[in-house]
Amino acid sequence: MHKKLLEQVYNTSNFNANGHELIDQLTSHLEDKLNGNSRNAIQWNNPANELQFWNDFLKNGDSKNLFQEINQRTTHIHHPNYLGHQVSPPAPITALTSLLSSLLNNGTAVYEMGMSSNAIERIIIEFICDKIGFNDNAGGFLTSGGTLANLTALLSARKAVTKKNVWREGSQNQLGIMVSEEAHYCVDRAARIMGLGDQGIIKVPVTNEYNINTDLLDLKLKEAQQKGIEVFAIIGSAPSTATGIFDDLEYIAKFAKEHNIWFHVDGAHGGAGIFSKKYRHTLNGIQHADSVVIDGHKMMMMPALTTALLFKDENNAKATFSQKADYLLSDSEHEDWYNSGKRTFECTKNMMGIHWFTLLKLYGEEVFDANVTLLYDLGSLFADIIKAEPNFELALRPMSNIVCFRYVLPNLNIDEQNGVNIKIRQQLLEDGEFYIVQTKLKNVHFLRITVMNPFTTEEHFKALVTKIKALVLH
Ligand SMILES: Cc1ncc(COP(=O)(O)O)c(C=O)c1O
Repeated sequence: MHKKLLEQVYNTSNFNANGHELIDQLTSHLEDKLNGNSRNAIQWNNPANELQFWNDFLKNGDSKNLFQEINQRTTHIHHPNYLGHQVSPPAPITALTSLLSSLLNNGTAVYEMGMSSNAIERIIIEFICDKIGFNDNAGGFLTSGGTLANLTALLSARKAVTKKNVWREGSQNQLGIMVSEEAHYCVDRAARIMGLGDQGIIKVPVTNEYNINTDLLDLKLKEAQQKGIEVFAIIGSAPSTATGIFDDLEYIAKFAKEHNIWFHVDGAHGGAGIFSKKYRHTLNGIQHADSVVIDGHKMMMMPALTTALLFKDENNAKATFSQKADYLLSDSEHEDWYNSGKRTFECTKNMMGIHWFTLLKLYGEEVFDANVTLLYDLGSLFADIIKAEPNFELALRPMSNIVCFRYVLPNLNIDEQNGVNIKIRQQLLEDGEFYIVQTKLKNVHFLRITVMNPFTTEEHFKALVTKIKALVLH
C-alpha cells in the first residue's frame, strides 16, 4: 500500500500533465498581469477569512483547482500597479531555473552535491566582484537572503577585526557596530544574535536628507570607545529601505580605514546599481568595502531567495566559520572553492547560481543595467508627478525607485494628517487595484512606493494619484 501511494507521488505522466497545465496557467497569468489587462495587483482578504478558506479547501476543495486558487488569492507582483515591497517580478526564465533547482534538489554545500551549481556560482561571484571594482583577491558566495548575508558579513568582520577570537573563546568584552538609524532592521537583529545587545548597536542619526550623518561618526566612535566598547564594523546602507536614500560610501570607507574597522555595504536593494551606467555613482566608494551584499531577488529579476555576499579579501569568507585562524589554513583548504558550504551559514542551499547564470547567458549583463536604470528613472518620474500635484508632498527627492510621499490637507494637525494617509493606504489595500506600502519618517506617516515592474508607466502613476484623490473626497 505504501509503495503504491509513493508510485503515485512520483508518477512521471502526472508530473508532465500537471507541469504543462501549470505552465499554461502561468503564461495566461503573465499575459494578463504584465500589461495590466486585469484590474487588481492584490486580491485582499483579511487573515481570518483567508485562513478559513484554506482550512475548508483542505477538507472539501477540488485539488484540480489548487494551483489556480493559490495564484488568484494573492499578490501579483507582475502587475504594473504592484508598487509595494522590494521583491522583483521574476523574469519568467528564472521561474524555470527555480523548477530545475527544485527538481534536482542538489544541496550544493559539498561539490559532489552540486557540481554544476558550485562551478556556476564561482563564475557569478567573480563576475560581480569584478563589477564592484574588487581585485583578484576578492571572492564570496551566494546565500539565502540579505538578512542572512548581513549576519554572515558581520560574523566575518568580527573574526577579522576584534582583538579576541570570539568564535573560539566566546565574548570577552563589549563589542559594537556603527550603523545608521535608518538601516534595515535585519542589521539590528544580526547584531543582537551576535550578542552585542543594546550597547553594541551604535545608531548614528541621519541628516535631513536621510543619509547617515557623517559629521557624527568620530563623535559616536569616541563615545563608544570611552564606554569600553570595541567597535569592529560600520555599515553603509545602499540604499536604506524606508527612503531609498544612499549613505555616503566614500566617506564611510575613509572613516573605516582610518580607524581600522570593517566596512560593510548593505546593498541588498541598490547594490545592483553596479550594473547601471547612469546610476553607478550612487555606489561610489563601494569598491573600498570589505564586504558587500546584493540581493538577486530585489533589483535583478530573480525569484527569492538569492543573495550575493562578496568580500574584498576572499580569505575572510573562508575564515568566518573556520576553527583555525586564516594563516593556519592549508593550501588545499585555500583552494577549496568548490565546497561552498564551508563558507555559508546554511548547509543545504538551492542551486541559486543558475538564475544569475541563465540571465547572463541569455541576455548579457546589459539586462541588469536596463532593469535598474529603468526602475530608478521611473522613481524620478513618479516624484515629478507628485511634485506637480497641489495636495501631495514628497518626503525626499528619490535616489532610487523608492519614493515616499503623502496627501496633505490644510488645517490638520500632524496626528490627523497621519490618520488621513493611514486611511488612504488601508482603502487602497482593500480595493486591490494598486498595491503600495507605507512608512513613518520622524513621526510623519508617508505612503511609499517601490517601482519594481519595468512595465509600470506614467499612466499607471497618474491613475494612482487620481485614485488617491477620489478616496480622499469620499
Ligand atoms: C537594505 C536591506 N537590507 C536587507 C534586507 C533584507 O533582505 P532579505 O529580505 O533578502 O532578507 C532588505 C529587504 O528589504 C533591505 O532593503
